[in-house]
Amino acid sequence: MLLSALFFVVCFACLTLVRSAFYPAALPLSVRSPYLQCYADTLAGDNTNDQWPQFWTESRILGWSGWIRIDGSTFQLWGQSGTTTNLTSFEVTPTRTVFSIHANTTNVNVTFLSPIEPSNLVLQSLPFSYVYIDVESNDGQEHSIQLYSDISAEWISGDSNSLAEWSTTRTDSSTIHKAARQTPLFMQEINSLAEDATVYYAFLISNDATYETGNDTVVRGDFIENGALFDSVDTKFRAISDHFVVFGHAINLSNITNTASSVVWAVGLVRDPVINLYSTSANNNRSSYFWTEYNTVSDAIDFFLSDFSNARQRAIDLDDKIVSDARQVSDNYADLVTLAARQALAVDITVSKDSEGQWNTSDVMTFMKDVGNSRRVNPVEILYAAFPVYLYFNTTWAEYLLEPLLQYQQSSQYTKTYAAPDLGSSYPSAEGNDGPSIFGAIEDSGNMLIMSWAHARFSGDSTLITRYYNLYKRWADYLVSVTLDPNGYTDADGLDNANMTNLAIKGIIGIKAMSEISQALGKSQDAETYSSTAKSYVEQWQISAGSTGHLLSTYGPTADSSSWSLVYNLFADKLLGTALVDSSIYTNQDTFYSHEADTSGVFGIQYDSSVANEAKSHWTMFAAGASNDTTVRDTLISLVHTKAGSNVSAGVFPLTYNPNNGSTISGQASPGQGAMFSLMALSLQNKTVGDGSSSNNDQTSSSGSSKAGAIAGGVVGGLAALTLLIFGFFMCRRRQRRTQDMYNQRSGWSSSTSDTPFCMGIFRKRKSPERESNNIDPILSESVIPQPYDPYGSYGTQHSLQPLRPGQQYASVESYAEAGQRLGKRGQPIILSSPTSDPTAAASTTAFGSSSASRSGGSDSDTTGQLRNEVENLRREMEEMRARSQYEPPPQYA
Ligand SMILES: *[C@@H]1O[C@H](CO)[C@@H](O)[C@H](O)[C@H]1NC(C)=O
Ligand SMILES: *[C@@H]1O[C@H](CO)[C@@H](O)[C@H](O)[C@H]1NC(C)=O
Ligand SMILES: *[C@@H]1O[C@H](CO)[C@@H](O)[C@H](O)[C@H]1NC(C)=O
Ligand SMILES: *[C@@H]1O[C@H](CO)[C@@H](O)[C@H](O)[C@H]1NC(C)=O
Ligand SMILES: *[C@@H]1O[C@H](CO)[C@@H](O)[C@H](O)[C@H]1NC(C)=O
Ligand SMILES: *[C@@H]1O[C@H](CO)[C@@H](O)[C@H](O)[C@H]1NC(C)=O
Ligand SMILES: *[C@@H]1O[C@H](CO)[C@@H](O)[C@H](O)[C@H]1NC(C)=O
Ligand SMILES: *[C@@H]1O[C@H](CO)[C@@H](O)[C@H](O)[C@H]1NC(C)=O
Ligand SMILES: *[C@@H]1O[C@H](CO)[C@@H](O)[C@H](O)[C@H]1NC(C)=O
Repeated sequence: MLLSALFFVVCFACLTLVRSAFYPAALPLSVRSPYLQCYADTLAGDNTNDQWPQFWTESRILGWSGWIRIDGSTFQLWGQSGTTTNLTSFEVTPTRTVFSIHANTTNVNVTFLSPIEPSNLVLQSLPFSYVYIDVESNDGQEHSIQLYSDISAEWISGDSNSLAEWSTTRTDSSTIHKAARQTPLFMQEINSLAEDATVYYAFLISNDATYETGNDTVVRGDFIENGALFDSVDTKFRAISDHFVVFGHAINLSNITNTASSVVWAVGLVRDPVINLYSTSANNNRSSYFWTEYNTVSDAIDFFLSDFSNARQRAIDLDDKIVSDARQVSDNYADLVTLAARQALAVDITVSKDSEGQWNTSDVMTFMKDVGNSRRVNPVEILYAAFPVYLYFNTTWAEYLLEPLLQYQQSSQYTKTYAAPDLGSSYPSAEGNDGPSIFGAIEDSGNMLIMSWAHARFSGDSTLITRYYNLYKRWADYLVSVTLDPNGYTDADGLDNANMTNLAIKGIIGIKAMSEISQALGKSQDAETYSSTAKSYVEQWQISAGSTGHLLSTYGPTADSSSWSLVYNLFADKLLGTALVDSSIYTNQDTFYSHEADTSGVFGIQYDSSVANEAKSHWTMFAAGASNDTTVRDTLISLVHTKAGSNVSAGVFPLTYNPNNGSTISGQASPGQGAMFSLMALSLQNKTVGDGSSSNNDQTSSSGSSKAGAIAGGVVGGLAALTLLIFGFFMCRRRQRRTQDMYNQRSGWSSSTSDTPFCMGIFRKRKSPERESNNIDPILSESVIPQPYDPYGSYGTQHSLQPLRPGQQYASVESYAEAGQRLGKRGQPIILSSPTSDPTAAASTTAFGSSSASRSGGSDSDTTGQLRNEVENLRREMEEMRARSQYEPPPQYA
């Protein structure tokens, strides 16, 4: 009786936990720039730490492994090269990803830290990350401990046949390995990796530290054998995959019960210059901002390693602040900003040299790559999506992103009367885009005006709006001429219907933003004109688009009164405090969304009634920001949370996905996920613009004092947890028997229940593939595919096909209910973060892997990727033709 009551309680808790689990498809490991993008794929099955880290495309291994040697026996901590260990939990914070690992007689934490440094541009622009290890004996005994880590040369090219060269140098404090292509391809990429980068792997010098470069089997073998390396280097330069050269560092910690301090490595990817800018002047190359402080990479690395404990403390403090700010909204929301932060800030912050060859620190520009979609440079609609994260961290950074676009369009090279969609289509060459089609004219002009006013309003800095006033005015005038009846235009996602409600309101808010800009600069005549135009337009728009109880997707005589859209551009009205749109519209939308959410897919809500099966995480969060109803807001958040926290489909936190089955469509690893910060941006304090204190860049309003948690994989504690585990064990055993056959058939994975208590690792690979034979990717080595040039700026992602990966097919046919069951069925131990904590805040560690993402899997997905690119190009061409035939020139503005 008592027992069954207990079981009932436990079972209830168990269900709650399973449902609230946050288990992203990929965890950030080292993410600091468009090309330094290393993730752990959680789909691959087995323990996430037992896989090779991947580039964001997840079709390129970035060789990176870590080992621990305990009393002479060696175990791997991450990577896929030796005796596996058991991941007991993982934790993700805005700056860190922590693997907690049970390895033989020790517990080990491996922490991957990619710093976010809002107050210091030098620190923020350092393209380095830390990985650090803490070890603790778990049997109360001392053990003889040695640690080892290496990287391969796979980081420096998308083509493993590329010839690499490398060297090892010792400074006063560090041993630094570096590797680069023998013939770097300037400003080029292959399979999205930079071909002109140098990878670094550094470690502090000490009596107990050793290093070695050479064949992977040789270097790792030396560590296994001796617990130390030979301080020797391999000088036989060769192809990346020719007996994979690895760059190792090891340390002997001797007999210990725990590490006195963390053992730290620094990994980095340096390109110099990073950007080749449109310009007729001789020197149009731009370098990372950190060069203003350090003359050599070695100096920068010496600093970076020596600064570790400060950097870690800053990271912990910042994580606490972000999470506590976000928890003012909700725990789900905190998970989303946590997952998005590193991804959204992975940009290149640059500086130029003046004619004397000195760094011109007043010429700072930031460049964003359209990661996940294309190679576009500073794609305006993605900047717009990401803008909240920049406003939140440091409004001045927002300026650096706008500046190159503005400077270019103010120059004589640019002749259009509307804003350009980007600065070119082949990052890192920012060659400019002087002939953009008219399709994006409203979208881009509206975005530029909104972002520029947002920057001024939250920074108090009137520099941009003063310098580019005429440019803004030209764009605003363009909007005045076309935005009420937009015909022949596309929105951010390539929809090209006439009279799109969401596009029209963006243009109208853009006009209002112009009025505010004029007002701030004391140009009251302009302010009055734009303000009254915006007012008149919004009144007409409200009647045309909003008189049926909710906003239609498109309006006009022939409009379908059942059409609808996520009118996410209302967020800009709220962010700018312009109160342009009547509150009844907001209320109606809330009612409508709440109704739609009832029947939406479990992973999301489609973004427009004309596009079934596509949800947009960034726009959904803007819609949440525009909501005036906390229940609706939280519903929208929870939909994005369900997708972001599920690994039913591969893909680093994507922008576009299927709302019904969660499968990723496009926008993986996009910085556009800065949109997750939309709600935090709403609580920023606006400033008086141009009051002379323009260097005043306070970050955020409140920062609460509550101790921040994180997305905790959790720590087991207390009796309740133990009971849960035991219960979970029995449940797993039962479920395994039921589902084993099905999984074996689907995925080719064997399950072995006998030696795996608590369902740990029930889906083990039959055989661990050997690195040597598996790491050679025939497709990669043949496919030096130039990126398609897209003169229309890659609008039109709504038709991208879903990349298929072997073993992943089920994602598209499995309902969420099934997925939920499966999650339960695969029943990993459910681990509470603490027995007293809010169960909905805790995440369980659930190995929710699909089947093999082996090397051959990578190849297949590459092939699929190529096909997809081609199909997408065809589609774009057709769309383009269609759009042309529909296009009527907009009325001339008098
Ligand atoms: C991992 O867990 C399994 C099952 O408990 C155990 O047999 C194995 O020794 C563990 N591995 C390590 C390295 O601790
Ligand atoms: C640790 O590893 C050694 C060598 O593989 C093994 O003999 C021993 O049983 C392991 N101990 C535990 C607690 O897993
Ligand atoms: C924002 O960044 C700028 C450098 O770009 C820096 O001078 C300023 O101190 C930062 N603001 C804050 C609040 O950290
Ligand atoms: C690992 O991290 C967890 C959670 O922060 C902590 O409780 C544990 O003591 C850490 N273990 C080691 C070996 O540092
Ligand atoms: C590296 O591996 C290859 C093939 O196993 C071998 O021919 C070569 O001698 C190795 N180099 C060293 C230094 O062992
Ligand atoms: C470490 O401990 C082992 C036995 O536990 C002992 O043989 C060895 O000498 C110790 N090493 C050092 C450096 O103290
Ligand atoms: C667009 O809306 C306007 C009213 O604002 C209407 O006059 C026009 O016919 C509409 N265009 C289309 C194609 O429906
Ligand atoms: C809803 O709007 C009212 C009035 O504009 C405002 O006071 C309130 O804070 C808003 N609520 C939310 C949840 O945005
Ligand atoms: C902030 O914005 C509100 C609404 O737009 C405005 O009334 C107020 O004056 C602004 N505050 C400052 C300091 O500019």
